Amino acid sequence: MVNASPSAPPQARVLLASNRGPISFTVEDDGTLTPRRGGGGLVSGLSAIGDEIESVWVCAALTEGDRAATRQGKLGDPSVRMLDIDAGTFARAYNGIANSTLWFVHHLIYNTPTTPVFGSSFRREWASYEAYNRAFAEALAEAAAPGATVLVQDYHLSLTPRLLRELRPDLRIGHFSHTPWAPPDYYRLLPDDIARDVLVGILGADRAGFLTRRWASAFADCCETVLGAEVDRSALTVTHEGRTTRLGVHPLGADGDFLRERAHRPDVDSRLAALREAVGDRRTVVRVDRTELSKNIVRGLHAYRHLLHTRPEWLDRVVHIAFAYPSRHDLPEYREYTASVLRVAQEINDEFGTPDWQPVLLAVDDDFARSLAAYRLADVALVNPIRDGMNLVAKELPVVSDDGCALVLSREAGAYEELGEDAVTVNPYDVIATAEALHTALTMPAAERADRCKRLAEAGTALPPSAWFLEQYRALAGDQLQE
Ligand code: G6P
Repeated sequence: MVNASPSAPPQARVLLASNRGPISFTVEDDGTLTPRRGGGGLVSGLSAIGDEIESVWVCAALTEGDRAATRQGKLGDPSVRMLDIDAGTFARAYNGIANSTLWFVHHLIYNTPTTPVFGSSFRREWASYEAYNRAFAEALAEAAAPGATVLVQDYHLSLTPRLLRELRPDLRIGHFSHTPWAPPDYYRLLPDDIARDVLVGILGADRAGFLTRRWASAFADCCETVLGAEVDRSALTVTHEGRTTRLGVHPLGADGDFLRERAHRPDVDSRLAALREAVGDRRTVVRVDRTELSKNIVRGLHAYRHLLHTRPEWLDRVVHIAFAYPSRHDLPEYREYTASVLRVAQEINDEFGTPDWQPVLLAVDDDFARSLAAYRLADVALVNPIRDGMNLVAKELPVVSDDGCALVLSREAGAYEELGEDAVTVNPYDVIATAEALHTALTMPAAERADRCKRLAEAGTALPPSAWFLEQYRALAGDQLQE
């Protein structure tokens, strides 16, 4: 079922496993393959371990281009091993289980009177998720040197640690969750056997990492409630069936050096000029997200509308820049959500707009340079997710903002643990309170705003991706030394 690219070195000492890899290919009209390098924390993290340590990154082929590149041996990077998992199996595992089930559970975004329905099609998806996790475990087992360190990433791969341990008990295995973790009452929506399998899967690791203490504690609570595992809350360990897994908290931060340099290149400057032209001398409320249900973009727009209704002094004095780039459009909920974002933004523009003033500037395409330009222009950053593992926009925006921005931040974002003190914090469901928070942020005295922004940027860059990766890697190795 799995076609792995054959060029990977067989005896890697450090291995990384994640659904999305560092490279992806597009098939052009003439059949040629165009590679696109992904950015992101994992790329700079892995490169931080240095060339002298042989590493391999195992990921899934996501596109037809990836499959073709894998089959034709055209990956062009011997340290990447891309798994060409049967397309149907992959879709059921990725769309059906990872993104429609585990993501929904951990972000508490089911509409519970009608969803989820765990029937026979769900069971078929679950079998595919098991096969997909097994494919990763087998590829890792094959590529790892004796005693190698393996870092498995995220909810797509929650079963892989245990499956890998069965194949290769000599390995040091870490798992890292980039999402929140659900509290036990909500987690137990999952069928009982599956709720157990996911926890036991992660407990196959020597260390299970989380972005905040809150998510690590929720995981421990679920282990206690669902498995009857023994939890030591001060040492942060979970013991189940004689094995102990240590929980780690590693709050991934923004890459300050990269952002500061990237945000002042000519492509960003030209987009900034265009945005300035559109905004004029008005204040700005900026948000940049994947068009993601948990990001709460629609309630953000309702809050902005409420602000314009209740605080008429802002009419023609403010512009809401909302960049919501496409995401997970294979799922109908995401397509519908994008339509709601467009509809509500249009309603606000119809209701309040004038020939000279467009209250909401919304774009639903992906343009990283334009996002950085908006970051630079921001007076206020709006980050109001229902629930979020971390939210790196909250950490990035204060680093890049030219004149210092105020941050309106949901208390349900992981970033709240580090940034809450210098942000204007909100309950993300309360649109009236969010509107008030926007007003407070917009009227914050310039000196206070600059001071807070400086502290936000410091806190937000405390653990940049390379340090974050090394911290986990060394923690795994350190545990080994202590044993
Ligand atoms: C979240 C997950 C990541 C994932 C990203 C984008 O941040 O934690 O693992 O890569 O979403 O997801 P997607 O599958 O749409 O690329």
